[in-house]
Amino acid sequence: MCGITGYIGSKKTYEVLLDGLRRLEYRGYDSSGIAVQVGNSIKFLKRKGKIIELEKSPEIKNMVGTMGISHTRWATHGIPNEINAHPHLDCKKEIALVHNGIIENYHQLKEKLVREGHKFISATDTEVVAHLIEKYYKKNNFESAVVRAIEDIHGSFALAIIHKDSEKLIAARRGSPLIIGVGRNENFIGSDVPAILKFTKKVIYLNDDEIAILSPNNIIVKNLQGKIIRPKVNEIKWSLDQIEKGGFKHFMLKEIFEQPQAISNALSARIINNKIKLDLKINPKNLQRIFLVACGTAWHAGLVGKYIIEKLTRKSVEVDIASEFRYRNPIIGKGDLLIAVSQSGETADTLESIKLAKHQGAKTLGIVNAVGSSIAREVDEVIYLQAGPEIGVASTKAFTCQVICLLLFALYMGEKGGNKIEKIVIKDLQALPKLIKKILSKSKDIQKIAKKYVNAQSSLYLGRGINFPIALEGALKLKEISYIHAEGYPAGEMKHGPIALVDEKLPVIFIANDDHTLEKIISNMEEIKARQGKIITVTNVAAEKIKKVSDDIIGVPKTSEIISALINVVPLQILAYYVADLRGIDMDKPRNLAKSVTVE
Ligand code: M6R
Repeated sequence: MCGITGYIGSKKTYEVLLDGLRRLEYRGYDSSGIAVQVGNSIKFLKRKGKIIELEKSPEIKNMVGTMGISHTRWATHGIPNEINAHPHLDCKKEIALVHNGIIENYHQLKEKLVREGHKFISATDTEVVAHLIEKYYKKNNFESAVVRAIEDIHGSFALAIIHKDSEKLIAARRGSPLIIGVGRNENFIGSDVPAILKFTKKVIYLNDDEIAILSPNNIIVKNLQGKIIRPKVNEIKWSLDQIEKGGFKHFMLKEIFEQPQAISNALSARIINNKIKLDLKINPKNLQRIFLVACGTAWHAGLVGKYIIEKLTRKSVEVDIASEFRYRNPIIGKGDLLIAVSQSGETADTLESIKLAKHQGAKTLGIVNAVGSSIAREVDEVIYLQAGPEIGVASTKAFTCQVICLLLFALYMGEKGGNKIEKIVIKDLQALPKLIKKILSKSKDIQKIAKKYVNAQSSLYLGRGINFPIALEGALKLKEISYIHAEGYPAGEMKHGPIALVDEKLPVIFIANDDHTLEKIISNMEEIKARQGKIITVTNVAAEKIKKVSDDIIGVPKTSEIISALINVVPLQILAYYVADLRGIDMDKPRNLAKSVTVE
């Protein structure tokens, strides 16, 4: 949610900042802006729309100088327009800052500042911070003015700030992600690693209530009491080509095709001699209940996880959407385990759920992709997805790797708890990358099916058991990138309401697996057919009955039931991708969405 970059050094400032912004565009793309210290003044430029609008402005070339900040916005307060775009400045245009987060008490602060004579021009919460710093600024006390302003603020922020007279660039964080890139004779600020990866692989993850004071040759990190902190400098393992499209039309397609490799990486060194190797302290014998908490696609992975963990460990699992969990006064405490699932490791509600569970005495485990992210640092233990960077706003390879990690966890806990692991599951797990490659090789056939449904207005996704969450995920993928209404349901629920939607125009996507629910699913298909619905079936069964009722069939390879979900989701990702592509949508940046939801 909003991307921030900052730079201090001798390169062309606007080029470094724009490069970082382009790589952070998945975080928000309704407007963007840049501010640079030039001589003893601040120059700034803002544009509505995607970053390209900023790039093509002729004035961008004037944004040279030795330090600057920039921002790509996902609007929270104030409509997307040039005035509300960041950077925001004080009355005298001497201070410029960019912000990610929400200043919760901005109304009160703004009223007071207005009474004191400050002139506001935007409808944002952010602008109060610029005026607060202005209020506290006395000659050469930039750093302490920033600290005093931060002390007045309630809410979450990642900030990058420049002053026309200061030779230092300041960054500060509370509750929103911010990293410092450590360079040679230059330093960087970014919301996320892709912003700085081209220039350095050395990063400092700022903690809450820390500020960093950057000059080209130095980085000083302090807490709000002024105590100097010696930060850990981490080495990033990602390479630059991992955050580029590599010949694919979109990141989403690249990431769908990366799944065999991503899954191999997630499994790598974690299965040895048919045994699961996870370096975890959690002991199933001391565990009462397991709570899985996540949002969006990660929540769907959690629903698949419930099915798998309960089956393999016989422990009861509750799955919650994080924004519901944290406000429902959950009964969780000592002896319980909360598992937080998150690609970005920054989702605000998931992060807050972890804090709540910890506060009530539960142990916490993160299933996270982004190394060093807030969630990874907040939990007691973490299993990393090892999926590599996911840039496309629609989550694909992170989903499959989240399920893989949950499966590894379930096998590990099952074994530790005295349950015997079925060797066939391990065998099928190891064969999974190959099976997914087979599906990917048929993507052009799925594209042909997509052509037939490109003008649909609404759609229904139905599955049972472990494939019910896959129906939810298929529907989410389609709606978020094609803007076609889509609903996922357990197939058995169909007659309790959704069947009323069925007519000759409604595509109904069934997941029909060769398991104990097959006959029931086939009956549901007959019922849709009897009402002239169009049926697309994802199936691993070559049954005449399925052929008879289906308008289109996407055949998938057979595997163990608990692994089938990982196979069935892939054609649904491809279907959604092609429908969106045929509708001319840039599904890497779907409207109103942002990759990482760092505000509530
Ligand atoms: O980074 P997280 O996994 O915590 O993100 C959770 C959701 O915001 C995310 O999965 C979202 O639903 C995606 N748009 C799904 O494609």
